[in-house]
Amino acid sequence: MGFATNAIHVGQEPDPATGAIVAPIYQTSTYVNEELGKNKGYDYARTNHPNRKALERTMAKLEGGHSAYVFTSGMAGIDAVFRLLRPGDHVVLSEAVYGGVFRLSTQLLVHFGLEFSFVDTSMLEAVRMALRPNTKMLYIETPTNPTMNVTDIAAISKVAGERNITVAVDNTFMSPFLQRPIEHGAHIVVHSMTKYLNGHSDATGGAVVLTRPEDAEKIYFIQRSAGAGLAPMDCFLVSRGIKTLAVRMLQHNANGITVARHLDAHPKVRKVYYPGLPSHPHHEVARRQQKGPGAMLSFDLGSVDAARRFLNHLQLCSLAESLGGVETLVSLPALMTHASMPKEVRERVGITEGLVRLSVGIEDVEDIIADLDQALLYV
Ligand SMILES: Cc1ncc(COP(=O)(O)O)c(C=O)c1O
Repeated sequence: MGFATNAIHVGQEPDPATGAIVAPIYQTSTYVNEELGKNKGYDYARTNHPNRKALERTMAKLEGGHSAYVFTSGMAGIDAVFRLLRPGDHVVLSEAVYGGVFRLSTQLLVHFGLEFSFVDTSMLEAVRMALRPNTKMLYIETPTNPTMNVTDIAAISKVAGERNITVAVDNTFMSPFLQRPIEHGAHIVVHSMTKYLNGHSDATGGAVVLTRPEDAEKIYFIQRSAGAGLAPMDCFLVSRGIKTLAVRMLQHNANGITVARHLDAHPKVRKVYYPGLPSHPHHEVARRQQKGPGAMLSFDLGSVDAARRFLNHLQLCSLAESLGGVETLVSLPALMTHASMPKEVRERVGITEGLVRLSVGIEDVEDIIADLDQALLYV
């Protein structure tokens, strides 16, 4: 079956008890045993519940994985992935990762004996040089948030394969509709489902998709032991969002391209970071690896004052954290999503104070552009 069909039907079969085309929300914490030692497949909602199981089946299918586990947020899922490691293990990460991943690794997980190195993973040689005898995982974000660097997943996976290193890819910016890392050799895919998968800015969630049964077993152990599995109502909301993922992504992609071209030609905009533009240094890799450039882009207005004037005059586009919803969201990474990154690191990776990030929504693109243009008059 095709992607859109799978997104609508896998894990979403009609309810066997009633025929309801939409599965009920199993808002219950516990399940009654038929007799001692015998239940209907569920015992307690932290361990598992039907809405979670349904969403996990959908996610595994859409990413082409063996199995998937869903968590209360993207960060809870990413935390579970790092817990596959042991004290003394080393991880190489994309240097412009989401600020929350930077914080989790450098301020929390280091205290449990894990080691982290941040490099520009779009440069294969830099990755090779960062590897150590104890490197156990390559953690890639592609495109990176918010600098839109693209890493060649197949090339990275080849390097990792030579040394038995696990490759984990954060696919949040693309969604499985535009990029399927497992097809390029990744072992693990993570998502903030809060973004495109849910798509309607009304729930948080994370997904971990696995290709190896031994990883799956460990991730499920972590999920049920630490208790960060996604709750029934949130699973329902994400599952509902996923049914329209294909059509939403087509429109996001079309709007993203139009807005990026418009900003690229705008005299007040110094630079646009968008892999869909031929001037982007990773345009060719993006064309090969992605089904489309998507709707995330960043652009530089030169200074924090210029950015502030622009942001404060937007009327349709909303100044907010997060991305991937139907509505256009704008943020200033240096002061918002990446505030936990030290200034010198931000500057090294190109997150300047005038860098504005745009998550282009699926409103009429003329309206989005009109709003950006009127706010740019104040820059
Ligand atoms: C690329 C990326 N990965 C992971 C996360 C974390 O996801 P969550 O906010 O659902 O915990 C985010 C959040 O913005 C993100 O942008």
